[in-house]
Amino acid sequence: MTTQDMVLDVRDLVVEFPVGRGEKVHAVSGLDLELRAGETLGILGESGCGKSTAGRAIMQLPPPTSGSVGFDGHELVGLPARTLRRRRARMQLIMQDPISSLNPRRKVKDLVAEGLSIWGFDASLHDGKDKDTVVRELLEAVGLEPDVVWDRRPDELSGGQCQRVCIARALMMRPRVLICDEPVSSLDVSVQAQILNLLEETKERFSFSMVFIAHDVSVVKNISDRVMVLYLGKACEVVPSDGMHRTSVHPYTRMLLASIPGAETEAAADASSWVGASVKTTELPSPLNPPSGCRFRTRCPLATELCATEEPRLREIAPGHLVACHHVATGESGSALA
Ligand SMILES: Nc1ncnc2c1ncn2[C@@H]1O[C@H](COP(=O)(O)OP(=O)(O)O)[C@@H](O)[C@H]1O
Ligand SMILES: [Mg+2]
Repeated sequence: MTTQDMVLDVRDLVVEFPVGRGEKVHAVSGLDLELRAGETLGILGESGCGKSTAGRAIMQLPPPTSGSVGFDGHELVGLPARTLRRRRARMQLIMQDPISSLNPRRKVKDLVAEGLSIWGFDASLHDGKDKDTVVRELLEAVGLEPDVVWDRRPDELSGGQCQRVCIARALMMRPRVLICDEPVSSLDVSVQAQILNLLEETKERFSFSMVFIAHDVSVVKNISDRVMVLYLGKACEVVPSDGMHRTSVHPYTRMLLASIPGAETEAAADASSWVGASVKTTELPSPLNPPSGCRFRTRCPLATELCATEEPRLREIAPGHLVACHHVATGESGSALA
């Protein structure tokens, strides 16, 4: 892989929130992440494990406590605000609650063009077309009828339509990277699939790369090329999504797979018999004082003394498959066993 293929190169990202009395929330603790051109990287984990914080820290919203974020070959951490705004314009964020991420007083036509207020409309990015034409085309691209929604405000639209407006607005900036933070979690099940399809379709058409954050295994698995599993602010496994129900080996990933509703599938049954059913507690430990060594050890059925004293490093056990667990040997990727 050449460096040109790499659109995001995040190294040792740390985000801590001081909460008084010298205590701090360890929300993200040393995350490495690479995103290649055209790729969708899923970030999966339970609520509270640091997914949103990681996504926002990549955007510098707010900047991380430490670490490095390379975007298209440029470092974003530590940039002066003005330079950052320009560089970041081509990295866009789609959030969970589309309605509250839109200014309720503005009309759709203005919401879509809102990002342009940062540095004006650059017709050269849009084949020389004027702004209104581009807004209309983008509304059509996200499945909205421009004449119908043009003058509407967010409260006159459904949640799914609002998320379409958010996507159009992101596309206006011709993003290289779209970070989607649980983009369908607040939508009706019937609308979720439509928005997921739309994201996949627009990704091809507008050639961006995507970081797709969600707590729902099936959603992440279907849309992603690779999946990074986060636990208490650390990556425990990075696995190609194709066949991950078979190949993933980290006890936490197996637990998440076993929790998919309808565990009657062979893989899920296997996962639950192997480890999922024996996970010790269901509560996430406090991020104020994470467990020593492996952060998952307090819930892990495989945990030994070593797990408490030594932190397992993320290492490659098969091409493109990384895992941080003392109990997984190199070459133990399930694909080798299949
Ligand atoms: N601004 C903040 N101040 C203090 N703690 C925070 C703040 N934002 C997030 N956290 C904490 O950081 C942890 C990770 O949160 P978050 O990134 O929202 O998780 P996720 O998106 O995976 O549900 C949680 O324990 C959360 O309570
Ligand atoms: Mg979140």
